[in-house]
Amino acid sequence: MTSFLSDQNKMLANPIFNPQGDDRIENRSIWFGKTTNLMQLNDVRYSWAIGLYQQMRENFWIPQKLDLTQDVTDYWNLTAEERYAYDGILSYLTFLDSVQTCNIPHLKSCVTAPEVSLCMAEQISQEGMHNQSYQYIIETVIPSDRRSTVYDFWRTDKVLADRCQFIAGLYQKYIDHPTAENYFTALLADYLLEGIYFYNGFIYFYNLASRMLMPGSADIFKMINRDELSHVRLYQKLIPEARQLFIHSVDQIYEMFDTAVQHEVKWTNHIVGDHILGVTEGSTEQYTKYLANLRLKAIGLEPLYPQEKYQKSPYRHLERFSDTKKEGHTKANFFEAGVTSYVMSSGIGGWDEI
Ligand SMILES: [Fe+2]
Ligand SMILES: [Fe+2]
Repeated sequence: MTSFLSDQNKMLANPIFNPQGDDRIENRSIWFGKTTNLMQLNDVRYSWAIGLYQQMRENFWIPQKLDLTQDVTDYWNLTAEERYAYDGILSYLTFLDSVQTCNIPHLKSCVTAPEVSLCMAEQISQEGMHNQSYQYIIETVIPSDRRSTVYDFWRTDKVLADRCQFIAGLYQKYIDHPTAENYFTALLADYLLEGIYFYNGFIYFYNLASRMLMPGSADIFKMINRDELSHVRLYQKLIPEARQLFIHSVDQIYEMFDTAVQHEVKWTNHIVGDHILGVTEGSTEQYTKYLANLRLKAIGLEPLYPQEKYQKSPYRHLERFSDTKKEGHTKANFFEAGVTSYVMSSGIGGWDEI
């Protein structure tokens, strides 16, 4: 891929205000533009960003309005393995949303199209709120003497600790050495996190809900799921643009995807394994490779795993729980009409296949 940049180029954060900037849309670009840093949104070059921002805002929800009463008693009806996985997945997802809240401002700081910056500002807000929703679950469902162990799980679980360090490391590398090359890697790492790392966790909660267990938790995760898919859409727009500007190779992208899949499968097998009804090591591998193929296709690349079985999800029967289908999102929640009765959104299309 050709580029006008070398990997020696430093990514510079935009000045807070640049009176010499040029906000005309014909001179606007997502990176390396010369913005005044005014949110000049009257004329926009990337109109998809305005539509996406609107959808993200329409996804508005408040965790505390979702009812966890049944989950408090269900928690003790889980098997020991199910409870272990419940706590461990919560811990992992808390880590993911923590690093997103921390890292997105770094990626955003050199974006020179205000309409794209607007979407990233909303993303940061949502990631922060996701952390608050985990706190709400932990405080409501998990007994007080076990709550800190959810946050501290990585201190004693080596698989999680290694995973956290790897994910954080790619972001940290850019912060320590803000080259264009490291920026592209961090952007891709972001897409992998948004597009692959959450979903075996979501599936675990939908699986419990399909067995009439922990319905409030699943309600919260379907809202987070919907938010995350809007973030996936954002990076599906950004990465093809970035590929025009940053030096990289397709091999690098495939290598990062393959590593991401291996880490995700290893972690899920570690925390969920083969002991829980509805999830096997085989279904985890199939689902993760299917997701990787889907995410690659969305940025214009061929599947990394071309075998037939990796072209479809093994969890289609759980989709009705995910709230990501156009037909499904206005339906009632799993067992009552709680969620839908306050969801304000009416403009969301199907998030599936993005
Ligand atoms: Fe999030
Ligand atoms: Fe996200």
